[in-house]
Amino acid sequence: MTQKSELIETEDLHARAMAAAGYIRSVARMQPRLGLILGSGLGDFAETVEDATILPYHEIPNFPVSTVAGHSGRLVVGKIGDIPVAVMQGRVHAYEGYSMKEVTFPTRVLGLLGVERLIVTNAAGGINPNYGQGAIVAISDHINLTGTNAVVGPNESRFGPRFFDMTHAYSSALRKLASDEATKQGWKLAEGVYVAVLGPSYETPAEIRAFRTLGADLVGMSTVHEVIVARHMGIEVLGLSVVTNMAAGVLDQPINHEEVMETGKRIAGQFTNLLTALIPQLAAQSQE
Ligand code: HPA
Repeated sequence: MTQKSELIETEDLHARAMAAAGYIRSVARMQPRLGLILGSGLGDFAETVEDATILPYHEIPNFPVSTVAGHSGRLVVGKIGDIPVAVMQGRVHAYEGYSMKEVTFPTRVLGLLGVERLIVTNAAGGINPNYGQGAIVAISDHINLTGTNAVVGPNESRFGPRFFDMTHAYSSALRKLASDEATKQGWKLAEGVYVAVLGPSYETPAEIRAFRTLGADLVGMSTVHEVIVARHMGIEVLGLSVVTNMAAGVLDQPINHEEVMETGKRIAGQFTNLLTALIPQLAAQSQE
């Protein structure tokens, strides 16, 4: 919100994120090594966290609170297997009126909490006709068409450098682990390029044709700024999209939010099985 976003000026962004991280640490008393952001309809995975401390976003200092149905808005700190994790059940989006600084504030906080790796998930429209509805796709790269960037403004060097590389924004090593685990579980994890738009209107068929020409396989309204901020802080990223619907014009039918949420629920079991098996592997690797 314009008024609220003015509260998060770059100068005090670090202090504000430190305050949030300090509060989370004082309540949860655990140092998460892995962060997980759960997208639309995918929040149920947070129920599998053990020894969970649940922090509603509105209780965490400076945390933005989502207005969208299906985004519960709580941080769950606990364990998956032996691995300490911080799971965001729901996120805020720029289309709600938040600035990209606010959208990425929780990612900053995860970084300050000490996470080394971040799994970012989302619901996406399938542009690539080879994907079926309900497919889980590992993001190999992104195209940011939101017209902005979360690190615009004076650089906060305590988070990271002014200019930073995005060649390996989505770790190929983490993608391979995810793909191998999916194969082990009897299905194929597809890969694709995610294009981010501002929303909240879904796209027109002409836009989807244009995005396909640009090289995009998936379209959504989140993720890229969280990934930009994570890379700014040197956090390794795995991005997973669930194709909740085919993008506009791919099928001759309208898109609606209920369908997006229902597809998320339908594949929840498969999604949970993948993450549950994968997370201990990701943490084991980062010790090397
Ligand atoms: N477009 C943009 N965002 C989305 C879509 C879509 O078709 N489905 C889920 N999130």
